[in-house]
Amino acid sequence: MQQPIAILDSGVGGLTVAKEVMRQLPHEKIVYFGDTARAPYGPRSPEEVTRFTREIVDYLIQFRPKMIIIACNTSTAFALEDIRRSVAVPVVGVIKPGARAAIGRTASGCVGVIGTEGTIRSGAYEQALKELSPQIHVISKACPLFVPLVEKGQFRSSETYKTIRNSIGHLRNTAMDSLILGCTHYPFLSEMIEEVMGPDISLISSADETAREARVILEKSGELASGHRIPMHQFLCSGEPALFREIAQQWLGQQLELTPIVWLEL
Ligand code: SIN
Repeated sequence: MQQPIAILDSGVGGLTVAKEVMRQLPHEKIVYFGDTARAPYGPRSPEEVTRFTREIVDYLIQFRPKMIIIACNTSTAFALEDIRRSVAVPVVGVIKPGARAAIGRTASGCVGVIGTEGTIRSGAYEQALKELSPQIHVISKACPLFVPLVEKGQFRSSETYKTIRNSIGHLRNTAMDSLILGCTHYPFLSEMIEEVMGPDISLISSADETAREARVILEKSGELASGHRIPMHQFLCSGEPALFREIAQQWLGQQLELTPIVWLEL
C-alpha cells in the first residue's frame, strides 16, 4: 500500500499547502487532518498548541506516513522541533519555506509578515528571515480576525474587506515590497488582501516553497511516488464536516472523501 504524506492544520488553512503538494507531487497520496473543532490555534498558548499538534501527529501515525507537513504556522512556530524529535519520518514546517520565498522576492529589503497572534509573538518569521539575510527589515502584524472569517467561508464579503483594510491597510505606507501570508489560512483571502495592499506589494504564500521542499526531501531519499495514477486522498476533520467539505471542494476543485472524526479530548 502506498505510504501517504500527512498534512495537518488547525482547520482549512493547510488545504492551501495540500493543493500545492497535489500540483507539484501529483502521485503522492495525502492524508489531511483539519482540527476544525479546536481552531483557531492563534490565541492559544505554546503549550496547548504543542499538545494539540502532538495529538494529531500521534493520530496520523496509524496511516504510516512517509512525511509529515505541519501546514499551520502557529504549530510550526511552537511545535516543529518537538515533533521532529518524536517521529522517525521527515517533518516539514511552513515558516522557513515562506521566509526563503520572501528573501528571493524582495528588492527593497523590507518584508512584511502577517500571521496569528501566536506566530507573530513567537518571532519565528523574523528569526528565519534574519538567518537568511541579517540586513533584512521586517514589519510584523498579528491579524487575529482573519482565521475565523476563513473558517466561516467568508472569503469575499464586505465584512472581510473592512476587517482586512482596518488590520493592515496602514502597512501600504511603508517600505515593504513583499508581504508574507504567515498563516496558511490567508491565501483564501489573497484577492482582498491584494486589493487593500495595492499592486506594488507582492504577496508570498509558503505553500509553493513548502511543496518544493517536500519534493526535494523525497527525491533525495528515493521515496518520491511516480507512475500514472492519481491517488485517492483522504481528508479528516474534527469539527462540523459540512462546511469543511464545502470549502475544501471549492478550493481544491474536486469532490472529496471526508471522514469526520470524533476528537476525544476537546
Ligand atoms: C490558526 O489556527 O490560528 C491559524 C493557523 C496558522 O497559523 O496557520
